Amino acid sequence: MPAEGGRFGRGAAAELRTGAGDVVADTLDATPGGGVSCWSSWADGPRRPQTTPPLAGNMERKETSPLIEALRREQANAVQLHLQYKGYHWNVSGPSFHDLHLLFDTHATQVFEMIDELAERQRILGAPADYTLEALRRASELVVEEKLPTTPREMVEHLVASHRRVMDGLRKGIELADGRGDPGSADLFTRFLLAHEKMEWFLREVLGKAASLSGK
Ligand SMILES: [Fe+2]
Repeated sequence: MPAEGGRFGRGAAAELRTGAGDVVADTLDATPGGGVSCWSSWADGPRRPQTTPPLAGNMERKETSPLIEALRREQANAVQLHLQYKGYHWNVSGPSFHDLHLLFDTHATQVFEMIDELAERQRILGAPADYTLEALRRASELVVEEKLPTTPREMVEHLVASHRRVMDGLRKGIELADGRGDPGSADLFTRFLLAHEKMEWFLREVLGKAASLSGK
C-alpha cells in the first residue's frame, strides 16, 4: 500500500465526505494490481477492510511456461533445502558436531539467498511467485523425512541426494532457458548450479572422513 499521504492516502479521504459530514469511503488504497480496498466509516468504530485487495502472490497463474515452472520448482526446492540444512544444523551431534554444525549453516545461508532471486525472476517474466508454505511444499520436488537421520553420515548422505536432485532440475532449467533465448534465466540457473556443485563436493569430502561421521 502507498505511504500515507500518497496518491490515494488520507488526503483523498476528506474529498469523499458528503456535505453532511458522513463518510462514504474514507480511504482508497491503490494496489500494484489495480485493486482498491474500501474502508468502513470511522464513525462505525475501528477501521476495517470491506474488500481484500488483490496481492501479487494471489494472481492467477495465467502466464506460465515450462521455464516459469522450472523457476517455481527451484524456488520451492531452495526453501526446502534451506530448512533441511537448518534442521540438521540444529540437531547434529557426535564427534563431528562442531564442523558439521558450522558447515550446515554456511550452506543453509547460501541456499537461502537463492530463494529471492528465483522468485524475482518469475516476476520479471510476468508470473506470480509463491509465498505460502503450502504452495511451496506442493511445488518442491525434494523429499525430506520428518524423522531425523540417526547419524551425521546419514544427514550428509541425505543432503548430497537433495543437491543432486536440485542440480538435475537446474540443468533442465538451463536447457529450457537456452531454448527460449533467455540468457538471463540461463545465467541464473548456471550460477546456482555451480554453487550446488561446490556444496555437494564439500559434502562428499566430508563423507570420505568415515571415522568422524558416526553417531554419539
Ligand atoms: Fe544457528
